[in-house]
Amino acid sequence: MRSINTAYAGLAGNYLFSEVARRVRVYKENHPEADVISLGIGDVSQPLVPAVIEALHEAVDEMSRAETFRGYGPEQGYAFLREAILKHDYLSRGVSLDADEILSSDGEKSDVGNFHELVGEDSIIALTDPVYPVYEDSNAMAGRGGVHENGRWSSIVYLPCTKENNFHPALPEKRVDVVYLCSPNNPTGTVLDRTELEKWVNYARENDSLIMFDAAYEAFIRDESIPRSIYEIPGADEVAVEFRSLSKTAGFTGLRCGYAVVPKKITAKTADGTVLHLHDIWLRRQCTKYNGCPYIVQRAAEAAFMEPARTQMKAVLAIYQGNADMMLKTCEKLGLEAFGGVHSPYVWLRTPGGMDSWSFFDLLLEKAAVVCTPGVGFGASGEGYVRLTAFNTPSLTRAALERLERVLADVRS
Ligand code: MLT
Repeated sequence: MRSINTAYAGLAGNYLFSEVARRVRVYKENHPEADVISLGIGDVSQPLVPAVIEALHEAVDEMSRAETFRGYGPEQGYAFLREAILKHDYLSRGVSLDADEILSSDGEKSDVGNFHELVGEDSIIALTDPVYPVYEDSNAMAGRGGVHENGRWSSIVYLPCTKENNFHPALPEKRVDVVYLCSPNNPTGTVLDRTELEKWVNYARENDSLIMFDAAYEAFIRDESIPRSIYEIPGADEVAVEFRSLSKTAGFTGLRCGYAVVPKKITAKTADGTVLHLHDIWLRRQCTKYNGCPYIVQRAAEAAFMEPARTQMKAVLAIYQGNADMMLKTCEKLGLEAFGGVHSPYVWLRTPGGMDSWSFFDLLLEKAAVVCTPGVGFGASGEGYVRLTAFNTPSLTRAALERLERVLADVRS
């Protein structure tokens, strides 16, 4: 009999967003007339900005002419894109990196889901709880999970992020090899300030650990004193890999482009003590398994880092920030406890009356045709919460909040 990788066979249920989509599909089949509004998956509603579309068109035209046609490109991305990223995301904030340390891809999910391949098979992984499920699932797929019981993997170290600790994970009690951090956080919408990030960089330096830092939502930070990159913390370039995305900042959820920053200073040892540079190994991995983000997408991404696209994108960001403000105001008016949403497109909402996450999800869907994401899907500490996204249009966000108000009135009466 053919056999299957037991680590994959042990995965629990569906990927979170697939399960949400499945339930919505069933609901729509049973209620074909329903006008469903999604505040669920963080998919953007606003189109690409005009300057990005223009760059995309130009690149498509280049592909039609023999003299400008491009075939395979560099696996880590064209220099024009990596230079644009360096200039606008890093040098502008006083972070000095080399463009070679930036490796572009078809989106951050791929990078953050693949990077664990570089760390030792028996590495101890620490994850915040709740957490973006890709970090957890990908390590479980690699066999680092152990046994899955009561929503947790036995070999993973979980760092609960709760209202009591302001959603700031405490340092692990025992040494871990790798810790995944996400700020602004998906799903809680909260941020790690400079002091918190320094705490983690110091921990990683003292313990020879690696930080996988997910900065997908950095553009939503409204307070200039909050770091947007982990490299704003001195010494982080020896211990941290950073992942970023154009999905939420530039509307590339469908176009696909992201990047990993892998500083050349980060080293790791093989079992026999040989010291290797993670940067070289990541590039080696990408060259074997990947052929690079499409040229036309990289040209569109390059435009997104320059004017006039940047100004156009700020206006789009303001729409989403306005939605998040509207959500927080509504929650306050309704006496609901809500977190995040200030430096983030996500609002982390405590379910009313102590309902569990999936029951509140079902209630909102059944009674209001509104989709949210159940907090428990992000981890055990997410039980009793749901996540709302600010990425829908202002009018649909308003409509969803009005429906939420009506459902609550019914529940409370
Ligand atoms: C989310 O809703 O958490 C994100 O959109 C998922 C993703 O970026 O893959």
